[in-house]
Amino acid sequence: MTDLAAKTALILGGSRGIGAAIVRRFAASGAATAFTYAGSRDAAEALAAETGTEAIQANSADRDALAATIASRGPLDVLVINAGTLVMGDPLTLDPDAIDHMIDVNIRAPYHAAVEAARRMNNNGRIIVIGSVNGDRMPFAGGAAYAMTKSAVQGMVRGLARDFGDRGITVNSIQPGPTDSDMNPAEGPMAATMHSFMAIKRHARPDEIAELTAYLAGPHGAMITGSLQTIDGGFGA
Ligand SMILES: NC(=O)c1ccc[n+]([C@@H]2O[C@H](COP(=O)([O-])OP(=O)(O)OC[C@H]3O[C@@H](n4cnc5c(N)ncnc54)[C@H](OP(=O)(O)O)[C@@H]3O)[C@@H](O)[C@H]2O)c1
Repeated sequence: MTDLAAKTALILGGSRGIGAAIVRRFAASGAATAFTYAGSRDAAEALAAETGTEAIQANSADRDALAATIASRGPLDVLVINAGTLVMGDPLTLDPDAIDHMIDVNIRAPYHAAVEAARRMNNNGRIIVIGSVNGDRMPFAGGAAYAMTKSAVQGMVRGLARDFGDRGITVNSIQPGPTDSDMNPAEGPMAATMHSFMAIKRHARPDEIAELTAYLAGPHGAMITGSLQTIDGGFGA
């Protein structure tokens, strides 16, 4: 198991799903771990008690609150930006405010969070954004805006990797395919359609995404930067 002892980590959006698996993985590896959540207070407090981590309520859509939370943690070794929302449907009838909220959480927040963390991040730090294979491939209708947000993450990590590389800070995106969570349940109505695009026809488990996150966060990730790490069972192949 990657050793993250003596590392200070903040996971944005850690109360449920992939984020919660990352919190568990980092805590088990010895990192001093805190995580944010927006609405799931009970889940967040239960996870914090289970893992010995700290839960902080901070809505990623609120730029000032997000920046203040990051600044309050002091110099970080690892920032994982996992918080994200999914709005899908006919673009002609989707609520434009819901689309703008998704843009706030999935694009604006990762950019501002990464920059804010980098202001005081320790040398050789790690910034990891949970993007999506949908940044590369959107094989069904209704996902244009979500795919747009995840494609934006790709440009962001490529650019910021160059901005912060002289301090040894790496900036990468992990791009999951279908992964079992509240956002995308393995038994959900879209599961069979999604599996039809995959070489390995199942949802990933959140702990599989967490393991790759820990690898990038650890010492073996030092030369991986500006990259898109796809973990999708061949969805995008
Ligand atoms: N599941 C998939 O198939 C899949 C595939 C590719 C990429 N992804 C990406 O992976 C990430 C996690 O997805 P998931 O499937 O684990 O989703 P999920 O089950 O819906 O969990 C989302 C997590 O993000 C937090 N969050 C959402 N909006 C937030 C906000 N405004 N401020 C702070 N925290 C917020 C939630 O906290 P609260 O409950 O407290 O709001 C929750 O902890 C997302 O970026 C998603 O786009 C997921």
